[in-house]
Amino acid sequence: MELPFAESYKIKMIEPIYRSTREQRVKWIDEAHYNLFNLRSEQVYIDLLTDSGTGAMSHKQWAALMEGDESYAGSSSYYNLKNTVKSIFGFDYFLPTHQGRAAENVLFSILVKEGDIVPGNSHFDTTKGHIEFRNAHTEDCTVDEAFDTDSYFPFKGNVDPEKLEHVLSKNKGKVKIMIVTLTCNSSGGQPVSMENLKEVRKVADKYGISVLFDSARFAENAWFIKKNEKSYNNKTIKEIVREMYSYADGMTMSAKKDGIVNIGGFIATNNQKWFEEASTFSIMYEGFLTYGGMAGRDMNALAIGLDEVTDSAYLETRISQVEYLGNKLIENGIPIQKPIGGHAVFVDAKKFLPHVPKEEFVAQTLANILYIEAGVRGVEVGTLLADRDPQTKENRYPKLELLRLAIPRRVYTNNHMDVVAAGLKNIYEQRDEIRTGLIIHKEAPIMRHFTVELYKA
Ligand code: F0G
Repeated sequence: MELPFAESYKIKMIEPIYRSTREQRVKWIDEAHYNLFNLRSEQVYIDLLTDSGTGAMSHKQWAALMEGDESYAGSSSYYNLKNTVKSIFGFDYFLPTHQGRAAENVLFSILVKEGDIVPGNSHFDTTKGHIEFRNAHTEDCTVDEAFDTDSYFPFKGNVDPEKLEHVLSKNKGKVKIMIVTLTCNSSGGQPVSMENLKEVRKVADKYGISVLFDSARFAENAWFIKKNEKSYNNKTIKEIVREMYSYADGMTMSAKKDGIVNIGGFIATNNQKWFEEASTFSIMYEGFLTYGGMAGRDMNALAIGLDEVTDSAYLETRISQVEYLGNKLIENGIPIQKPIGGHAVFVDAKKFLPHVPKEEFVAQTLANILYIEAGVRGVEVGTLLADRDPQTKENRYPKLELLRLAIPRRVYTNNHMDVVAAGLKNIYEQRDEIRTGLIIHKEAPIMRHFTVELYKA
């Protein structure tokens, strides 16, 4: 008999979580104005709001905290992290920042100017926000397959080279950089193939533009390359990552995901000029060059996290858990983004709740019902997140209306995943009775999903 697969770690420390009653949850979600961001964490049983900053550190990472060097300048922790970044990504210049969006803010301060166009594969919302804040624009060049949740195309994060060339040839002089997000969060944690990274590099070179990788989930991306691109099956994750980054001019990193730390980020590049120019903004916004908003202990933990996340046994455990949940949902007939992505399972809310009108925030409605049913907190990636059109003030209805169930790293077991799947199954069986959603009571002009207040339609 073939031996079954099991986690590549065992548990040394635990944190209790509590089940609540349906009556309690009905009351709490009402008090939270049907916005799951307003719930207190104790009111949540299984928290799949995000995989960002929610991972569990290893014993080595905890030990490294004690050896953190908190010197203002030139700490050994800074050099530990700088050396790790060099060995994993191959970049000589490195600036720590307090998280991913801070890296975007510092780097875009030198690279993005008013009127610029920044193409990419479905930019993450903070990335887009930092670009639009500078009166520049994004162009989404993701492959069409990404928007068909039933397509099993293995690299739905890919940039469509034709769409990219079209943007570049129409906007000569306006495009200086492009961004490839690895994996592509907005399209469902979907990876970008190595072949595509090479192609993108070619097109970028043809038009003389630079390529940045938004690297929050770079290791998960490398895992899919290893699994699904034949010539990489026998390469190590570290070898694959080195090759991926040989096609980039620089990177921004939210270390809260594939750094497996609770806070942190950085910029890395081989472009000395970028480094020198960005350094000024780093000092203004983040902190001195050798800490940039991070404590020495956190830089130590991140250096180890980057090493651990680029290990095949870890990634097999990680991706298998996401697959485990995704496959359970598929078995129950629940419509999800396929193939199953790297950090989350994305439920297709429009297909799940076909009777709820799009004006009543279908994915947010599903997120609320799942919370009431099972105490599970997911997050809407749909109309609320898409905000209103800045000109017309009308709601923007994105192609996909998704409920994201993001799985924190090394935190939950598959028993927790069974609870999530059972909760969704129960709701799916009653879907025909669910015909109304939610209405906005109060909202902010941008990034409204964080603070919006809703009531039941
Ligand atoms: N890029 C990507 C692809 C992200 O997913 C995120 C954050 C960021 C950049 C910004 O990084 O949070 O460290 O400032 N994503 C989180 C999420 C918030 O839930 O997906 P940050």
